Amino acid sequence: MKLIIKENSANGSLWAARHIAEKINAKAKVSDKPFVLGLCTGSTPIETYAELARMVKAGEVSFKNVISFNMDEYVGLPESHPESYHSFMHKNLFDHIDEPAENIHILNGNAPDLDAECEAYEKAIAAAGGFDLFLGGIGEDGHIAFNEPFSPLTSRTRVVTLTEDTRIVNSRFFGGDMNLVPKQALSVGVATVTDSKEVVILAFGPKKARAIHDAVEGAYSHMCTVSALQNHQNGIIVCDEAAVGEIKVNSYKYFKAVELAEKL
Ligand code: PGA
Repeated sequence: MKLIIKENSANGSLWAARHIAEKINAKAKVSDKPFVLGLCTGSTPIETYAELARMVKAGEVSFKNVISFNMDEYVGLPESHPESYHSFMHKNLFDHIDEPAENIHILNGNAPDLDAECEAYEKAIAAAGGFDLFLGGIGEDGHIAFNEPFSPLTSRTRVVTLTEDTRIVNSRFFGGDMNLVPKQALSVGVATVTDSKEVVILAFGPKKARAIHDAVEGAYSHMCTVSALQNHQNGIIVCDEAAVGEIKVNSYKYFKAVELAEKL
């Protein structure tokens, strides 16, 4: 695992957007196959999406041959609800880039058979060729997608129950009322994410510091599902200074030295 530590979230977001664009462009140079991209929602990726939209408009990257799969969606929330992840993705990314509508995949939290929806999602990811890059955020409890503590690190796309902590954190999008936050979601599994050739996780702000400590210096454990990246050949966590506030000085120096040596 690599930790890219930028001075603030703005620079971390720019780094992530440019990294994703470079990877899309690099594949397009050598292959006609689509670039398969995993995407996330939340406050964290907004600036990265804004930079990607700018790059598309400036002709620096194109999503015409990108197929995307989002990591999760609430169960039972209408797609048109302003806080559905369908709404979020269109507002913050898809309305501003050139990705064909048929290439966009988001789990349907209103499907009549939720298990069948999850199974079909895994099959569609495999049929697309598997992920080239998965972009994610992390929860304050170290969750990746909605894989809350005690989710198996081998998990696949399925129906999950949100913890009370996550519903309290997400209540800020629902007028501060946790009772309005859906109790369940559909989520890709930890293994769905770690199967990706590359995983890029964004973590900004002091509220993520404990999760970053657990992910980087803690055990490989279902207690902090993003710790699964410890076993990934190409896992990158992009942080700001605040998010690395709880790692050891020596760990900080190590990751900074790698970043400098590899000019990341
Ligand atoms: P956030 O959510 O970006 O809004 O902090 C991240 C997450 O819960 O995975």
